[in-house]
Amino acid sequence: MEEKLSSVAKTLTPSPIQQLSFLAQRCDAINLAEGFPDFPAPLHIKNAAVSAINSDFNQYRHVEGICDHVARKMKEMQKLDVDPLTDIVICCGQSEAFAATIFAIVEQGDEVILFDPSYETYETCIRLAGGVPVYVDLDPPNWTLNLDKLKKSFTTKTKAVVLNSPHNPTGKVFSKDELEIIAGACQTWNILAVTDEVYEHITFDKESHISLASLPEMQKRTIVTSSLSKTFSVTGWRIGWAIAPAWIASAIRNIHIKITDSAPAPFQEAALTALRSPHAYFDSLRRDYELKRDFVVDMLEKVGFKMQFKPKGSFFVFAPLPGSCTLSDVEFVEELIKQAGVVAVAGCGFFHTSLSAEDSSQAALGYQRKYIRFAFCKSEDTLAAASKKISGLVDDGRGMK
Ligand SMILES: Cc1ncc(COP(=O)(O)O)c(C=O)c1O
Repeated sequence: MEEKLSSVAKTLTPSPIQQLSFLAQRCDAINLAEGFPDFPAPLHIKNAAVSAINSDFNQYRHVEGICDHVARKMKEMQKLDVDPLTDIVICCGQSEAFAATIFAIVEQGDEVILFDPSYETYETCIRLAGGVPVYVDLDPPNWTLNLDKLKKSFTTKTKAVVLNSPHNPTGKVFSKDELEIIAGACQTWNILAVTDEVYEHITFDKESHISLASLPEMQKRTIVTSSLSKTFSVTGWRIGWAIAPAWIASAIRNIHIKITDSAPAPFQEAALTALRSPHAYFDSLRRDYELKRDFVVDMLEKVGFKMQFKPKGSFFVFAPLPGSCTLSDVEFVEELIKQAGVVAVAGCGFFHTSLSAEDSSQAALGYQRKYIRFAFCKSEDTLAAASKKISGLVDDGRGMK
């Protein structure tokens, strides 16, 4: 009967990151693999959720007011005027907002440009919609965008470009110059842009997040997706949104209603409280994560990693294995679990470009087997324990060979 599965479904496999998390649980290892916090969510928003349940907001519901708050935040952060009545769709996390967006705009055979390395779910949604992902690799160590590579990726079939900034897995924040290049290309080729801005509030070193939609002439062709998940440490609440010109937002809304009807009602209620959080909340989120980033980067440098690129946003460090390390990324991750009891993610899972015919030397893309992603959205205790274990491994002379 398995032949009855759709051809895309047949190609899908369980997420390697989730498998690593199961492994972490089974071996009681410290989980620096998955991108969710292990510390409590803010009390003021948890109380709002509890109170919503107790007030019986437990049925299908489209909570009025969230869109006003999302629109206000867009104005405050990006100076964009967004109509809360027509331009915003509340979904089940950025994940559903992204999927509904792709289903709304991608037709069979449409090409969608993605930057490599890339967060893993975009490709699946594009393929489920019948589209074709086209990867443009970012150049290490700073994950720079190369204009020529971008230009070469456009064809008459290109429908959209997907931009994730701040970026998972690298921690890159696309610069204004790079955003202008992408915006220019979108206009030249008359294509749409879909952005994933879930780390919009997590930027470091005075870097601030610029939405591609805020560049001249871009709002009318950009669909912004984001969520509460990372900003409020509530990845399990599944509240996110798409912000788009009314004609696209309406298509996304129709798809959202058919797929999930509405996001979880009590958490939509709590979103009202979350999105009203004072500036001090967002400042301390950034400050806390910057300290965690510095702690993890220092620790990795002490054990021999050469951190040429320090993340500017998100909560991941994408660390290149030291030149002296003869292990591949996958072997290193296995050793890290077995010997140190710490789980991280092998970088190869985030890369999609393969060796091209004209540049087939292993060295050309050998870097794709040399990165490890560590998530630092963890409590101080977890990070300190992980640091002790990783350092111990190196001091014993067991690792990093
Ligand atoms: C880049 C990126 N986008 C989206 C998500 C998922 O967001 P949500 O929980 O809102 O679906 C993640 C989660 O790890 C992520 O890293």
